[in-house]
Amino acid sequence: MKLAILSNGPGNYTTKRLKEEALKRGHDVTVIKYKDAYTAVEANNNQVRYMGETLDKYDAIIPRIAQSYTKYGTAIVRQFESQGSYSTASSLAINRSRDKLRAYQILAKAGVGIPKTVFARESASFDDIVELAGGAPLIIKVAKGTHGNGVVLAETAKAAKAVMQAFYVEGVNFLVQEFVKESAGTDIRALVVGGRVVASVKRQSLDGDFRSNTHQGGEGQKVKLTDEERKTAIKAAKAMGLPICGVDMMRSERGPLVLEVNSSASIKTPELITGRNVAEKIIEYVEMNAKRKPRKDKIGA
Ligand SMILES: Nc1ncnc2c1ncn2[C@@H]1O[C@H](COP(=O)(O)OP(=O)(O)O)[C@@H](O)[C@H]1O
Ligand SMILES: [Mg+2]
Repeated sequence: MKLAILSNGPGNYTTKRLKEEALKRGHDVTVIKYKDAYTAVEANNNQVRYMGETLDKYDAIIPRIAQSYTKYGTAIVRQFESQGSYSTASSLAINRSRDKLRAYQILAKAGVGIPKTVFARESASFDDIVELAGGAPLIIKVAKGTHGNGVVLAETAKAAKAVMQAFYVEGVNFLVQEFVKESAGTDIRALVVGGRVVASVKRQSLDGDFRSNTHQGGEGQKVKLTDEERKTAIKAAKAMGLPICGVDMMRSERGPLVLEVNSSASIKTPELITGRNVAEKIIEYVEMNAKRKPRKDKIGA
């Protein structure tokens, strides 16, 4: 199989591991820094240019698109898709997962548990928003944040209003969310590959922060998921149209609540902590699916 990994960081753990496992299984692998790829868009000519040359057609691509490159990266993914290459994450699905409101709407529609979430613009009443989200303390998060940046905990209704006002002034889209206090500072990342959870880790913030992102100093531990958690992760992945993804959940009194579904989840902590070979599972999944005709996207949102 001729395989391309789209990654701006060829030295990243996940990129290196995917390449290593693909080589081990006898595939022809290239890592393409998609920020340096470009294309001339013209009728019936879906080429991708890279370092002054036109790339040959790939059987499959594994996009590892950084949040800050979502728009450009997904445009390059789309170019590969229009050449007929199989992609482990479609450009549509990546874009959907990068917009938190859109993702929550899709998850809610599919019946996946999420924290109570309110989305509004300046015309709406602050008091009603605070009440709808369940009252203070509240979480306010920007629609396009990542790594825990852009997630604020407002302890009081007053503080929540002030944060909302500040975001309105800046024209930032945000969500107001119930604070899941039962497991504040802890979340669970389930790595899903082809409808199965292949590794799961619990992330705990170290410094008393309410955010457990490893980028914020959170630490990972092995965790055994309950049946309900496993089913929720699989359902969330399916709803988002992402066969390979990281589903973040929080444990609450009313069961697991999904915080987000990551289309370019790192496999580093999951592999190092659980000892599972996640990269191999991903390559096996690509082998099984690269030959199939891409299925039509029926998510409709
Ligand atoms: N509703 C919430 N209640 C409690 N903690 C939350 C809530 N939403 C987010 N968090 C904490 O903040 C972290 C980052 O939030 P998340 O929505 O995943 O945004 P990001 O995309 O920045 O990672 C989560 O991992 C979790 O620890
Ligand atoms: Mg997160």
